[in-house]
Amino acid sequence: MITIGIVLGSTRPGRVGDQVARWVHERATRRTDAEFTLIDLRDHPLPHLEEPPGFSGEYQDERTRAWAATVAACDGFVLVTPEYNHSVPGVLKNAMDHVHVEWNTKAAGFVSYGGVGGARSVEQLRLVCGALQLADVAPQVTLPLATEFENRTVFKPGDHQLAALDLLLDHVVAWSTALAPLRRGDAEAAIRGRIDAIVDGLRNKDLEALRRCYAPDVVSFDVEPPLQHVGTDAKLKNWAKVFTFFEKVDYELRDLTVTVSGDLAVGHGFGRVSGILTNGVAADGMWVRATFVFRNTGDGWVIVHDQASVPFDMATGKGVTDLEP
Ligand SMILES: Cc1cc2nc3c(=O)[nH]c(=O)nc-3n(C[C@H](O)[C@H](O)[C@H](O)COP(=O)(O)O)c2cc1C
Repeated sequence: MITIGIVLGSTRPGRVGDQVARWVHERATRRTDAEFTLIDLRDHPLPHLEEPPGFSGEYQDERTRAWAATVAACDGFVLVTPEYNHSVPGVLKNAMDHVHVEWNTKAAGFVSYGGVGGARSVEQLRLVCGALQLADVAPQVTLPLATEFENRTVFKPGDHQLAALDLLLDHVVAWSTALAPLRRGDAEAAIRGRIDAIVDGLRNKDLEALRRCYAPDVVSFDVEPPLQHVGTDAKLKNWAKVFTFFEKVDYELRDLTVTVSGDLAVGHGFGRVSGILTNGVAADGMWVRATFVFRNTGDGWVIVHDQASVPFDMATGKGVTDLEP
């Protein structure tokens, strides 16, 4: 089932936005076609943007990584926003600017409040959503302070607002669901990018670049003993050993498949390490069968499990190393 994040876009002491966001959340959780989670920006105190543009999904600050994971876990959003000076609250814009790929190919709807129902804030948010490849749905809930709030502070929405909210939620759920196949495509591209990074890391003998491709608790069933290598250090030790044999490393991957489901993905293909040995002799290497399991940690896709193997000859018990894909 898809997950919709209801983002509370005001962190101001004495804010009225929490009443509005709770109203949205309470209504939404009666539905059975999606799960809804309330995201309070007070729980994500981000600095003014200090990150590079988030197109790679790799972030330097712990707080950004936590925020990225929160956004990545959602398939769509309801942005609950006030209007400040005819525009979007700075705290909401800052949170939107902090990450990028995590917003992409999802849907967003708006519940706004203010003197004129927050309409001008939403008009500007629609432009921001366009830049983030976040599809904005047309139905909208606009809550004027003068009519929907007692003393402009106590939220008392008219019953007709529930129909507007239901329509908004219908659209956000439908669009978020419809965009799911495209999101899987994005994920596959990101995973193939990670695998390219591994191939580059091997060719450059760059252990630190390789480290970024594995989860800290990776369990690797490599061709080399022992039976398993647990943790990034153990996995990298294996690659470091390979590098001691080769002056120049090449790595070829064939017939790679990637299948994504939610935050997990599996891939398989045939891999071959070859190159020039330290004694100057060219080595063709052998083709191995490689299987990868990736997990999206919110910090990008990393390998949590891999397996490399060759078939063995039952009669001799020896590995068969001369097969070609
Ligand atoms: C800095 C600031 C600027 C505001 N500017 C506008 C405005 O331009 N238009 C408007 O309709 N309301 C404006 N308001 C009123 C807010 O919409 C209203 O105070 C609302 O309750 C703010 O949401 P919050 O309490 O959840 O922070 C402004 C409020 C603040 C604090």
